[in-house]
Amino acid sequence: MKGFTLWFTGLSGSGKSTLAEKIKPILLERGRNVEILDGDIVRTNLSKGLGFSKEDRDTNIRRIGFVCHLLSRNGAVAITAAISPYREIRDECREMIGDFVEVYCKCPLEVLAERDVKGLYKKAMAGEIKNFTGVSDPYEEPEKAEVVIDSSTETIEQSADKIIRTLELMGYIKGSEDDTGYSQDEEEQIKARLKDLGYI
Ligand code: ADX
Repeated sequence: MKGFTLWFTGLSGSGKSTLAEKIKPILLERGRNVEILDGDIVRTNLSKGLGFSKEDRDTNIRRIGFVCHLLSRNGAVAITAAISPYREIRDECREMIGDFVEVYCKCPLEVLAERDVKGLYKKAMAGEIKNFTGVSDPYEEPEKAEVVIDSSTETIEQSADKIIRTLELMGYIKGSEDDTGYSQDEEEQIKARLKDLGYI
C-alpha cells in the first residue's frame, strides 16, 4: 500500500507523542512499516544544536519533513510528533510529501499548565524559559487538519480510533474486522470532516 505521513501538531503536552506511540503498533499489526520522528528525540540527533527561535524551529520542521518525504515515498508510514507551530512550514511539508494526514492535538492551555508533565509551563509562565510555545511564542492552529483530537475531553483510545478510521476512509489502511467501538456519531463526524476537505 501507499506510504504516507501522519503529522501530529499541537502544544507541548497535548498528547502528540503518546498518540504516536499508541498508533504505531496498530499500523504494524496491519503490516505497515512505521517510523516515529519525535520532536524531543529528533532534537538530540538530526536537529542537535538547534534552539527555539523561529528560524531554528523552521529548520527543525523542514528536516523532519524531508525525512518523512523519503520514508513515505518508499511505502513506509512516517509519524511526526513535533510542535510544528507555524502553518506555513507545515503546509510546505504537506506540499512536498503529498500523502499527508495532519492531526491537530488540541488542548486548552489551562489544562496543559495544570498537568505540566515536564514542569516546563510553570517555568515558562514564571519567565524562566523564553519563547515557550503557547505562553510566550506563537502557535498557529491548522485550518484544514484531517483529524482534530482533544486530549482534555477524549480518551486516548477514542482519539486513536478517530485517527485509524480516518486513515481507513482515506484509503491509506485497510479496514479491520475488529469492532473498534466508535459510535455512530463519531463515524459521522469523521465522514463530514473528510467530505468538507474534499476527500470523500
Ligand atoms: S518545534 O517547535 O521545533 O516543533 P519540538 O517539538 O521540536 O518543537 O520541541 C518541543 C519540545 O522541546 C517541548 O515538548 C519541550 O519539551 C521542549 N522545549 C524546550 N524549550 C521550548 C520552547 N521554548 N518552546 C517549546 N518547547 C520547548
